[in-house]
Amino acid sequence: MYRSHTCGELRLADLKKEVTLSGWVQTVRKFGSITFVDIRDRYGITQLLFSEALNADLDANPLGREFVLQVKGIVNERSNKNPNLPTGAIEIAVAQFTILNKSAVPPFSIQDDTDGGDELRMKYRFLDLRRNIVKKNLELRYAVGRSTRNYLHENNFMDIETPFLIKSTPEGARDFVVPSRMNAGQFYALPQSPQTFKQLLMVSGFDRYYQIVKCFRDEDLRADRQPEFTQIDCEMSFVEQEDILNMFEGLVKRIFKDVKNIDYTDVLERMTWEDAMWTYGNDKPDTRFEIKIANLKFPRHTFPTQSSLATLIEGAAFGVFDDAETVLAIAVPGCSDYTRKQTDELTDWVKRPQIGMKGLVFIKCNEDGTYKSSVDKFYSPEKLKRIADAASAKAGDLVLILAGAEEKTRKATSDLRMYMAERLGLRRADDFKLLWVLDFPLFEYAEEDNRWVARHHPFTSPKPDHIDIMINNNPVIANAADYLAHPYAGIKANAYDMVLNGNEIGGGSIRIFQRALQEKMFAALGMDEEEQQHKFGFLLGAFEYGAPPHGGLAFGFDRLCAIIGGSESIRDFIAFPKNNSGRDVMLDAPSTIDNKQFEELQIKLDLK
Ligand code: AMO
Repeated sequence: MYRSHTCGELRLADLKKEVTLSGWVQTVRKFGSITFVDIRDRYGITQLLFSEALNADLDANPLGREFVLQVKGIVNERSNKNPNLPTGAIEIAVAQFTILNKSAVPPFSIQDDTDGGDELRMKYRFLDLRRNIVKKNLELRYAVGRSTRNYLHENNFMDIETPFLIKSTPEGARDFVVPSRMNAGQFYALPQSPQTFKQLLMVSGFDRYYQIVKCFRDEDLRADRQPEFTQIDCEMSFVEQEDILNMFEGLVKRIFKDVKNIDYTDVLERMTWEDAMWTYGNDKPDTRFEIKIANLKFPRHTFPTQSSLATLIEGAAFGVFDDAETVLAIAVPGCSDYTRKQTDELTDWVKRPQIGMKGLVFIKCNEDGTYKSSVDKFYSPEKLKRIADAASAKAGDLVLILAGAEEKTRKATSDLRMYMAERLGLRRADDFKLLWVLDFPLFEYAEEDNRWVARHHPFTSPKPDHIDIMINNNPVIANAADYLAHPYAGIKANAYDMVLNGNEIGGGSIRIFQRALQEKMFAALGMDEEEQQHKFGFLLGAFEYGAPPHGGLAFGFDRLCAIIGGSESIRDFIAFPKNNSGRDVMLDAPSTIDNKQFEELQIKLDLK
């Protein structure tokens, strides 16, 4: 028997028991004739006391860090208790020990505040995973998965596996491809998501499907993206958008309850895509803090239902505002006392290439009711007050204004909003704000090809009222410069995203389930009949055999875990993640394959 108890288990109630523990050596401390050793396993750490009698044995078999050790001994009360450790009141008086295996000196210290850099820890990920902090992340991931499975099972969802070696599924990224030996010259694609399979399962009558499943996307990596990641993928039949929102609002609330013991009782806020873009400059707004965007000036088609405040800022001979397509402002609370150095710092920040703005205008709304601005030359104090009022600024606020091309300026203002919130400590990791963003545009304009692409994916249905717009208008964009004037630009989708603390944690849609409309959709995306048949013949065919109305969504499982765990980097929550270049530095993958493998595949490498 290797162990009678774990290293996290023994308490004062176990005094005098004879026990056997096995684990890894965390630390060895010699005090004259006695030696203290901390032994660690998945469950915790226990202090071992090697008395004088064992010292000769210890000298003959010295213990190093990370040695695998087995000890037999008696549970004793500690004279010097450690209240921070669950086992801190006891220690084991070792009677006998066996070194089960030795360890080389680990390349970094196995503790929370390790001295190991990122790459080194990734190379030795199996050691990194021994650290409590990383282990806790995986425990949280497991808890989120378990809670998800319980909830979905209780709601009649069935876990059904779908294949990995498939044909391309469009989710907006590049496919990873796998050559087929038995079909030389042909390739499988790894699924970007099980999208079409789950729809086929609805056609088969499975009604409520889910899967916690790997997805593969060859896209540029960021902190919240991995080339292989995991989704909680779900689909339901005979549902409307409302049914889906309620079901999955229930799921995240259950996860928060089970995993964090948080009663998230608020009904999730619902915001249209247009409102999100208008108010936050972003379709995944962080609503943990209140700062909103004031739209002083914006182009005609972007927000047709909103009115412009352009007259407030135009005509003052200030060319930056007069010539700009868009002028947006935010009021940052309590920053009117920013020094010249601080406002210069902000200006430099918006000028960084990642943000790309030419400059920053500010208005200080002083506590005494006066206004001081970087554009005092052009605007009277009364005018500055009106602009500040338009930005809903209060005394003590600092109004920051950006001007330029619509898309860039909106994104920059959104980034600046996040940056200021970060500076002010308003983005607390233990504060959770969930919301739904609804009514996304069905199409997005692809400038390179001057055509429409699906904003979500091509299986998403248009709003019922907008189907006619799609059917009655030609998708061709005659005037690229004014693509927003095309009727397709206004078509909204039955699509929804769930947002948590400024991150898109999930998204889905009510699907098209009739062949004719699906064909129309494919055609709108520039696919002729032959291409439709080649790529999606199986789905179009299935729609002819009684496809039920259906819809669903998928959560980014890694992202959900990371944010619940208080991090924005999903890597920390994946056992064996890839680095920023998509490499597994532990395996050293990707790598070349040997000639025999190429021969079997009948492939000859001819790299450009
Ligand atoms: P979508 O493409 O929006 O939808 O993906 C769903 C969720 O998956 C997460 N996600 C990622 N997480 C980590 N790394 C990535 N590279 C990555 N890409 C996406 C996001 C996202 O919200 N089939 C549809 C779902 C549906 O319509 O039902 C789909 O895959 O959190």
